[in-house]
Amino acid sequence: MEKKPILVTLVVFFVATTVSIAYGIPDSPEALEKWLETQHPAKEKVTRLVFYVRDVISTPTPTNVAVARANSTIGSPTNFGLVAVIDDPVTVGPEPGSKIIGRAEGIIALASLEETSLHMTFTIVFTDGEYNSSTLSFVGRNAYLTKLRQISIVGGTGAFALARGVTFIDTVRSNSSGDAVFHYDSVLLHY
Ligand SMILES: *[C@@H]1O[C@H](CO)[C@@H](O)[C@H](O)[C@H]1NC(C)=O
Ligand SMILES: *[C@@H]1O[C@H](CO)[C@@H](O)[C@H](O)[C@H]1NC(C)=O
Ligand SMILES: *[C@@H]1O[C@H](CO)[C@@H](O)[C@H](O)[C@H]1NC(C)=O
Repeated sequence: MEKKPILVTLVVFFVATTVSIAYGIPDSPEALEKWLETQHPAKEKVTRLVFYVRDVISTPTPTNVAVARANSTIGSPTNFGLVAVIDDPVTVGPEPGSKIIGRAEGIIALASLEETSLHMTFTIVFTDGEYNSSTLSFVGRNAYLTKLRQISIVGGTGAFALARGVTFIDTVRSNSSGDAVFHYDSVLLHY
């Protein structure tokens, strides 16, 4: 019997594991390629992430600014055509002053003629904690006035390389100034 293949397998496994540990969160195309090779086709993890996103319009330093609208937006009951850019703090809890762990940066557009509904495309970059510097990208339809909305998580970087999932969003509070706090409850698959 030829025993070499078993030894080779063990050596390859050891090297692959070592490479995986050594590379940690991949920070170059080569590191990502090696890291994914060691993970794939390993079983993906299911991670539940809960955080809050704070949208401030009313202060002199808003985190949500309208950047464009059509002439017809003014007369639209659903603000159809309004486009805004956000850089909202992501916090651990819903209360003012809660610890900031990231930013939600991207574009939102009022995209329904029939109801108040957003098309959202944005990325959350984590700036603290276990996922510091990793990102998650979100795309979807957010019918703002319904109780619970769902949007897609379409990818990520760092600890979330090749991630995908779904986020459930509900409004914790909002006021007539347009300021609001949202609860994001995400379930995602990633390596
Ligand atoms: C929008 O309104 C402005 C001011 O009333 C007008 O000058 C402009 O031509 C309008 N644009 C379109 C595309 O209708
Ligand atoms: C998060 O990562 C950035 C970039 O690597 C680093 O500068 C920062 O100190 C980290 N923050 C924490 C709280 O670890
Ligand atoms: C809305 O809430 C913000 C704090 O998030 C506050 O600064 C603002 O005054 C409030 N506006 C109204 C009309 O209550």
